[in-house]
Amino acid sequence: HEKLEKFPQNFLWGAASAAYQIEGGWNSDGKGPSIWDQFTKIPGKTFQGTNGDIAVDHYNRYKEDVKLMADMGLKAYRFSLAWSRILPDGSGEINEKGLAFYENLINELIKHNIEPVLTLYHWDIPQALQDRYNGWESRQVIDDFDNYARILFKRFKDKVKYWVSFNEQNVFTALGYRWEAHPPNLSDVKKMFEANHIINLANAKAINSFHELVPDGLIGPSFGYGPMYSFNCEPENVLATLNGEEFQNHWWLDVYVNGKYPKATFKQLVKLGVAPTVEEGDLQLLQSAKPDFLGVNYYHGGTVRANEIEFPSGDNDAGLEKSFEATDPYLMKPKEEQAQTPEKRMFSNVSNPFLEKTKWGWEIDPVGIRIALRRLQNRYDLPMMITENGLGAFDDLTNERTIEDDYRIEYLRGHIIEIQKAITDGVDLIGYCAWSFTDLLSWLNGYQKRYGFVYIDRDEKDEKALERIPKKSYFWYKSVIATNGQNL
Ligand code: BG6
Repeated sequence: HEKLEKFPQNFLWGAASAAYQIEGGWNSDGKGPSIWDQFTKIPGKTFQGTNGDIAVDHYNRYKEDVKLMADMGLKAYRFSLAWSRILPDGSGEINEKGLAFYENLINELIKHNIEPVLTLYHWDIPQALQDRYNGWESRQVIDDFDNYARILFKRFKDKVKYWVSFNEQNVFTALGYRWEAHPPNLSDVKKMFEANHIINLANAKAINSFHELVPDGLIGPSFGYGPMYSFNCEPENVLATLNGEEFQNHWWLDVYVNGKYPKATFKQLVKLGVAPTVEEGDLQLLQSAKPDFLGVNYYHGGTVRANEIEFPSGDNDAGLEKSFEATDPYLMKPKEEQAQTPEKRMFSNVSNPFLEKTKWGWEIDPVGIRIALRRLQNRYDLPMMITENGLGAFDDLTNERTIEDDYRIEYLRGHIIEIQKAITDGVDLIGYCAWSFTDLLSWLNGYQKRYGFVYIDRDEKDEKALERIPKKSYFWYKSVIATNGQNL
């Protein structure tokens, strides 16, 4: 057995959420619509047509939720702000009531000694900006995002130390611009890379504003990181894995940290005619803004092989055609599309035969979180925070109104032990935010795919009383926190 070091004394044991997934109050107190308010109303886009109009009503019940966090002993709570609550029109007039909601939430957290970790953007750009100039496709958004961020920096700089700029830029650009699975509901690879570049610029500009206005705070993006494994040791597959790691991870992370796009991927995109337009001054801006830490969202990695042997039998393809108990749109990529994608010449994703999967087909790989942290530490050498990690599962409410979610405890325990090993290896980790605190809306999978420590008694069709019921995992995590991870 490895002798494991203790978690640091001030380790931030936390949990996370995102505005659209919990708040509800979609048009309360002057909030403007976001692209998600509109997108979820398009028939057939979400599971049984679910949306976040009410979600779990955190907007009206935040005090009760914070009380549950306090009773649990939670040290940090990561949440996002809805841009269109603060600036209903995207820019211009500030909606004071929207700001007040977040101020009250932050005050409530601080009152209970819970460190707020504030995410500026978790996927919900104001619909007004989408209508005005196609949102992230226009360079105008860089200043509008900066304006929004500066309002928050000024207002909360004395109360909030940890800030996340963008949540999973890799995920929302791919699902929104390529796979028609998120707003703005496009399948256009060129637009995806153009928008992605503009988001990089917006990220850099806001980080520079942060360093000017909040010199004592720490800011970084939260990246959806999955370490890539080679299918086997055949050199062609190892090379493909390098391509996979570069295309699926370094493409963003190298820009965040070093202000540079990885060369091989960039050349490949130029060849295919889909590289982003990099204007004079862009790289200087990207290089001027270095994050203070990296937020890491870890659910699973990916396995890669050279694609000369792509789809040999149809059996081993990235789980694309496997039938799981539930269908996850994240994994559904039409084959004809695949044939023309940038990956075609670079790598293909395959299923890992050593790993079990969740009911939605996500690989379960605790060792992967250690590998992730080690690789990121080596390549970027920044402090890190796990800003998301958790298990989406069906939960049953028993007749005694309890939830015996031992499977979630097992999942989290497995990952936290690997995190402790990573810390023992020398990784600089600030904290761990499990996804999620309460159950919440899973963007495309409704309310049945649950992640929370606290059950919310509602389903797709009926909000019921939205009662909060701590699950077995709630009490387990409470003791993990109380002992600073000593008796896992
Ligand atoms: C992350 C997102 O991609 O994964 C979260 O940042 C999301 O917002 C989480 O809820 C789990 O995804 P899903 O599809 O299972 O809800």
